[in-house]
Amino acid sequence: MTDASSTIYVLNGPNLNLLGLREPEIYGSTTLDEIAGMLEDCAQELGFAIDMRQTNHEGMLVDWLHEAQAEHARAVLLNAAAYTHTSIALLDAIKAITTPVVEVHISDPKTRENFRHISYVGMAAAKTVEGHGADSYRLAIEAVAAGEV
Ligand code: DQA
Repeated sequence: MTDASSTIYVLNGPNLNLLGLREPEIYGSTTLDEIAGMLEDCAQELGFAIDMRQTNHEGMLVDWLHEAQAEHARAVLLNAAAYTHTSIALLDAIKAITTPVVEVHISDPKTRENFRHISYVGMAAAKTVEGHGADSYRLAIEAVAAGEV
C-alpha cells in the first residue's frame, strides 16, 4: 500500500508520445508505454508508486507541477523535452513548489545542438539525469530512493 508521499510524478513533455518512432537513432526504440511499465516495476521494488503522464502543452506541465505539490508527491521526474530549453514558466513553477524535481533526458542535450545547452529546468531542478537512454528515468527513481533529492 502506498500513500501520496510515496508517489513519484513522472511528467513528460512535447513529442515524447512518439518515443519509439521519433528519431530512434537519438531516442532509441523504447516507447513511452514501455518506459512506464519498466518504471512501475522499478518503483514498486523500491516502495514507490509512479504517476506517469505526457502532454504536448507547456501550461499542462505547470499545472501538474502545482498538483504534485498539492498532492504531497515524494518527487517529480520531469522530462520537459524541448520546453526544457525555452520555458521560464517551468523554471518558475519548479521554484514555486517545494517538491523536489529531477530533470530527466533520454539523450544528452549538452552534447547536441547549442540551443539545447541551456536548461531552464536544470536551473531549478534538484538533480539532472541525462544521456542514459530510457534508463535515465530508472536512474532518477533510484536517486530519489537513495535520498539524493
Ligand atoms: C529530450 C532532449 C530535448 O532536447 C528534446 O527537445 C526532447 C527530448 C531527451 O529526453 O533527450 O524532446 O528531453
